[in-house]
Amino acid sequence: MKATVVGLQWGDEGKGKVVTYLSRDYDCVVRYSGGSNAGHTVDYGDFKIVHHLLPSADLKRQRMMYIGPGVVVDLDVLLQEIEQIDQYLPYARRLLRISKQAHVVVPFYKQLDEALDKARLSAIGTTRRGIGLSYANRALRCGLRFQDLENPQRAKDLLQELARIWKISIDCEEILNEMLTKYDLVRDLMIDSIEAVKVLRDKNLLFEGTQGVLLDVDVGTYPYVTSTNCSSTGVQAGFSWPVKVDQIYGVMKAYTTRVGEGPFPTELKGEEQEKLRKLGGEYGATTGRPRRCGWLDLVLLRYAIESSGCSSLIMTKADVLTAYEKVPVCVAYKINGRTLGEINNLSNIDEIEPVYELFDGWKSLHSPEFERFVARIEKELEIKFSYISTGPRVDEIIKI
Ligand code: IMP
Repeated sequence: MKATVVGLQWGDEGKGKVVTYLSRDYDCVVRYSGGSNAGHTVDYGDFKIVHHLLPSADLKRQRMMYIGPGVVVDLDVLLQEIEQIDQYLPYARRLLRISKQAHVVVPFYKQLDEALDKARLSAIGTTRRGIGLSYANRALRCGLRFQDLENPQRAKDLLQELARIWKISIDCEEILNEMLTKYDLVRDLMIDSIEAVKVLRDKNLLFEGTQGVLLDVDVGTYPYVTSTNCSSTGVQAGFSWPVKVDQIYGVMKAYTTRVGEGPFPTELKGEEQEKLRKLGGEYGATTGRPRRCGWLDLVLLRYAIESSGCSSLIMTKADVLTAYEKVPVCVAYKINGRTLGEINNLSNIDEIEPVYELFDGWKSLHSPEFERFVARIEKELEIKFSYISTGPRVDEIIKI
């Protein structure tokens, strides 16, 4: 059995907790794209683990974790996270493997990430984690992979090449020595992608998407996106094998949030936005930035379901909305005098007018009002929910 979990909005849908829960039924959780731009906290009840790079496998149940070659790895973040799991679950380290073919985020990429974003016509508001630079250098064929660190002279030559290409002056010797010291601490976890595929291909695998479909470099709100196929389409390349996935779970929050710049049709303004942000605790796990908040947008969800091949829905954070008597939901867009329930292109969604319908609010996730909300969303989106998350803890989730 193979499944993928993707976010259906702009990330931060609560995928981490969902992946941790679902991983009970799988042997290994595989990260296939992104890097430490991702971030979420998994609440085990007696302790919490903050993930940026480590797959969100249920570590209490000793599920395996694999960081595939499609991920870009910041060694500092990796070491911090390993230290963190060592503190709570000392055996968990041996459950982790990392592809030797994964690219390394060289420290200066982060400064360049910021400089590049500032030089743009319109800033994207990246996480400044050097993610775009890592993937750009990979595409330019001047990136540094873990396997290069096995040969210090080659790694030094590559750093010098990077300095020439980006016209920057860096102390390659110093950077290399620091990277090698850190690499030594994780060398035992490295594996060739193809060896990993041989070990994993016949196992039950759960592919953990990062960000959300609307931040995917190809189908998202380009250029206000991340630099990878964070949607389900990235799985095969990011795992380095043409794996056939049986199920694609799409995780959606009962409202919408976005971090960074870019269009957001149902975004709330002023105090209304602040109220929802506070109720949902909507502050970025990676950057601490306040998230932009707005109502659920069914037009964008239809688009995300279509483009990701999503086969089953999971709703999170519906409990946050119990404070509202009526819950507005965007059911269609008005564009040039026409009302559309579906769109095929996201390029002009900042020019549309959302058409809202007010749904009766709910005081509990076991109430008839909430059941009606769920049934109506299923009807609108023509797809069923398989789980509803009822709170932040891993086990606060119900199967439908
Ligand atoms: P980058 O991935 O750091 O290059 O940032 C590109 C865009 O994706 C920015 O708008 C970020 O705020 C957004 N982004 C990247 N990772 C996440 C995430 O995990 N959750 C939400 N937004 C993200």
